[in-house]
Amino acid sequence: MNEKVRIAVIGIGNMGSFHVRDLAAQSNAELTAVCDIDRPKADRFGEMFHVPAFYDYREMFEKAPLDAVVIATPHYDHTPISIDAFQRGLHVLTEKPIAVHLKDARKMVQAYETARQKHPGLTFAIMFNQRTYGFWRKIKSLIEDGELGRLVRVSWIITDWFRSQAYYDSGGWRATWKGEGGGVLLNQCPHNLDLFQWFAGMPKRVAGYASLGKYHNIEVEDEVTGYFEYENGMVGHFITTTAESPGTNRLELVGERGKLVFEDGRLTFFRNRSSMFTFLKESKSAFDKVENWEIPIPYQHHNEGGHRFLLENFAEAILHGEPLIARAEEGLNSLALGNAMMLSSFLGKPVDIPFDEDEYAARLAELARTSRFQKPEEKQLEEDLNKSFGFH
Ligand SMILES: NC(=O)c1ccc[n+]([C@@H]2O[C@H](COP(=O)([O-])OP(=O)(O)OC[C@H]3O[C@@H](n4cnc5c(N)ncnc54)[C@H](O)[C@@H]3O)[C@@H](O)[C@H]2O)c1
Repeated sequence: MNEKVRIAVIGIGNMGSFHVRDLAAQSNAELTAVCDIDRPKADRFGEMFHVPAFYDYREMFEKAPLDAVVIATPHYDHTPISIDAFQRGLHVLTEKPIAVHLKDARKMVQAYETARQKHPGLTFAIMFNQRTYGFWRKIKSLIEDGELGRLVRVSWIITDWFRSQAYYDSGGWRATWKGEGGGVLLNQCPHNLDLFQWFAGMPKRVAGYASLGKYHNIEVEDEVTGYFEYENGMVGHFITTTAESPGTNRLELVGERGKLVFEDGRLTFFRNRSSMFTFLKESKSAFDKVENWEIPIPYQHHNEGGHRFLLENFAEAILHGEPLIARAEEGLNSLALGNAMMLSSFLGKPVDIPFDEDEYAARLAELARTSRFQKPEEKQLEEDLNKSFGFH
């Protein structure tokens, strides 16, 4: 292996164009090619970064000097591209969500496992850039250190993913069953669903209530409420939409030893002096509560999207075996949560985890097949993607 990982980016749209710039500036990687089915776009970035441009990733796999690829195409294509890449022994960093549904995601993991028999050092990562955010890392470490004790409730109101109609009209694939395969749960929320499972683990049962195109002229979900039940009794709530302005980003994690709240960039710990379960059983008073102390929790944050840290980590993992910030297999959990909320909403009843993944994939295929939705004419937006990351 060279001192630098030779990487190509596939899909040079909103997100891929950031990855190309980041990789070109990275000391442990070398951008060796770009690929986009939009020829003028591929050519423009190829010229800008002095690398060959390809319009078909298979041709690029044949001709470009490559160790690894970053996939930033619409979600459905993450599956075939990563499977082909693994068959050629290439390392893969895929954008979130890992795939549209679990059936596709499992095919990717299977292809990775098969390829690893021949190439044991193969790396498969996913772009969960929010895992580098200082406040989420602090929450994770407080949970791991046992500061909260046993978790009893995690509730996330994440309604500050506001998107206008102009956003949805900006890409032909966006917010359609055929092109995207879902809405807010699949596009904006994979980060939050990943963090939810990173903090609290996976539930055993999920109920979801999703509204399709309630506020936007789209055919997929733009408002969802989810309810999660855990084996140990913990409950979870997940409330999201792309139609609220001003929206809310409030995460409450309640444990035996106190409550952690993140909102408006502030992280606050309401620390119980003693166990609330012990107090509940032993207190002689009807109305007293556990004494608690309100503690502002400091954290350090890089105040950027943080994608470049995952790109650097991906290359370090390939070169020197550094542990990945986010292994792609972990992307199955956030996808399971999103798919389960949608399946529950379609069925009108809660679903157990694991659920029937074939049934969900078949439903999506049927929705795509029978869609009568007419997408308005595509209008490209020239906007700073930084505005979309929401890193406070
Ligand atoms: N991690 C994040 O913060 C973040 C932010 C935005 C988007 N994303 C993810 O990145 C992916 C792309 O989203 P976007 O907003 O950049 O979309 P986009 O429409 O702006 O860009 C997609 C690009 O892929 C190209 N493309 C489509 N199919 C292709 C193929 N088979 N081969 C090569 N190129 C192909 C398109 O021409 C387009 O240029 C999605 O999966 C999305 O969820 C992640």
